Amino acid sequence: MKAPNKTYFYRARNAIYHLFRSLRVQHGETVLVPAYHSGNEVWAMRAAGASTRFYSIHRNLEPDLDELARLAKSENARALFVIHFLGWPQPMKELTALCRERGMILIEDCALSLLSQPGGQPLGSWGDYAIFCLYKTLPVPNGGLLVQNGSVAGSLTAPELTPCDLASVAGRTTELMLEWIRSRSDGAGAMLTGLKRLVGRTLSALRLERLPVGDIGFDPASVNVGMSPLGLALLKRCDYEEIRRRRRNNFLFLYQQLGGKVAVLREELEEGVCPLFFPLLVPDKAAAARALWDRGITAVEFWNSGDPEATRDAFPEAHFLRDHVLELPIHQDITPSQLEYMADQVLSLKRLV
Ligand SMILES: Cc1ncc(COP(=O)(O)O)c(C=O)c1O
Repeated sequence: MKAPNKTYFYRARNAIYHLFRSLRVQHGETVLVPAYHSGNEVWAMRAAGASTRFYSIHRNLEPDLDELARLAKSENARALFVIHFLGWPQPMKELTALCRERGMILIEDCALSLLSQPGGQPLGSWGDYAIFCLYKTLPVPNGGLLVQNGSVAGSLTAPELTPCDLASVAGRTTELMLEWIRSRSDGAGAMLTGLKRLVGRTLSALRLERLPVGDIGFDPASVNVGMSPLGLALLKRCDYEEIRRRRRNNFLFLYQQLGGKVAVLREELEEGVCPLFFPLLVPDKAAAARALWDRGITAVEFWNSGDPEATRDAFPEAHFLRDHVLELPIHQDITPSQLEYMADQVLSLKRLV
């Protein structure tokens, strides 16, 4: 967070939209985007007028560098959009060299990789621009960040943003607090889940529209909403070193508890990498997720689908990841006894893992 040129938004997709608006990608120029993506980033840049071309991502989460070099030429690429998946880095030395050689703008999407600094160099410090999603890693109700490392555009440094409404902040903050209490109190789970629903229903009954976070889709009506003052204040109170340390320890502890008996997407954890979650590889994601939810574990079916243009035929390996990557929580509030329980439950699933 020491980058000199930072602009905060309600969500990261707003930052992507504003960045691409200011880049003014011309007719006939394209942006190279990984075929493995959430969809939100793609729709934000298209809404800002950019034409996208997809590139392959292998099962190890890395691009095919030869294919990228070919596409850079054949697609008249103005920019390369790189996603650092789940905290693990993309091959930045090679990608920066390619961008320099082809005169392409390099944009790092660190929505899933806040606080990752493999080899001591923070992700988001290689490219001309970087975007971050704050609420995925930190206990803040909302927040996206745009960092400008190269030439600085004034329109991006101080865009005219409207304040985020109170209902959105109150709703999400209450949810965060209830989740935090629930993760610490055995037996209170059902009561707190009921309370969370009640808060949601009350805000809806009062007809208080809330802007979501963590949803899929792009809403042009909310691109100019800023991060809430509460979120900005909370950022100053976070212990970033400690968050990275706990996430790393949780990853390594869960990995050790699973004892090599299940398939894991990334097994190595280079110094400085801050994992977003524990990526299991399972044969049937939906069934495994259901079974874990039944056992009280909030497994997430990560990125089941993306933009329809990145088809299964053209990008089989990205679709392999969509079919098989299951997210297990290892965030800073998860305790060793919860991880032991999680590992026992995963190992008990038998054919589902
Ligand atoms: C890789 C990636 N980039 C950008 C975004 C946009 O993040 P936000 O939800 O903060 O708009 C997301 C998530 O939606 C994402 O997964």
